[in-house]
Amino acid sequence: MSFKILEKEEMAAGVWKMVIDASDVAKAAKAGQFVIVRAYDDSERIPLTIADIDREKGTIMMSVQALGKGTKQITKMEVGESLADFVGPLGTPADVKKIGTVILVGGGVGIAPIYPQIQAYKDAGNRVVTVIGARNESLLMMEKEFEAASDEHYVTTDDGSKGRHGFVTEVVKELLDKQNAGEYEGERIGRVVVIGPPILMKVATDMMKDYPDVEIIVSINAMMVDGTGMCGGCRVVVDGEVKFACVDGPEFDGRLVDFDTVMNRLMIYRKDEADASQKYDE
Ligand code: FES
Repeated sequence: MSFKILEKEEMAAGVWKMVIDASDVAKAAKAGQFVIVRAYDDSERIPLTIADIDREKGTIMMSVQALGKGTKQITKMEVGESLADFVGPLGTPADVKKIGTVILVGGGVGIAPIYPQIQAYKDAGNRVVTVIGARNESLLMMEKEFEAASDEHYVTTDDGSKGRHGFVTEVVKELLDKQNAGEYEGERIGRVVVIGPPILMKVATDMMKDYPDVEIIVSINAMMVDGTGMCGGCRVVVDGEVKFACVDGPEFDGRLVDFDTVMNRLMIYRKDEADASQKYDE
């Protein structure tokens, strides 16, 4: 198995698309799962959510944000080079079924990981609305792909540099309010799936209090460290019970997730990551 890098492109500032030759992983992978990647034998293990699967070509696309040492090593590799390790698929696949209309929301680095769910939900007979957003235009990615794959598609930026000025949650709220007023023309919106920074997932989940009969699913993918169920780094309290995002998730019912523990832990990671990244750059 070569795990050769077949394509590499900067999709948004600091976020790279990489397509890897990994036919066994591609055969088995499902939307919502992730892989563990190491650039070199002595590199750290990096869990990355699968952004696209091409079963025929035997390739996996992932998006890599160059943040820490391990991710920077990966994004500095070139087309034609091979990764030392590419293990997967890991984690529980997204619980995709026939719902009616599903709104898929991708915020910032959550945009790429939510992409494979479009096809998965469509294959299950759903109408798919996508809402993607970022702080500004330079952080947006895959707009054309989303537009082509979705039944209805919206783009937002916090600063108004592209698409609608505002947050992804505002679009979701509008659509759900329309539905409540009997003015939504598609099939009933029964589920909202959000992948993005924990604060976005928390705000989206809080907003869903007004729509108790619509499901909200979130992906705690940013919490994962080694992705093996061994390090405990991705512990998350769900419905009062400790779960591991890498084994029990990464997707959970947003209403059951204790977001405060998620955000506190991530703040600790960010600091460690910034320290490691600075050392790598020095
Ligand atoms: Fe280490 Fe889940 S990432 S236990």
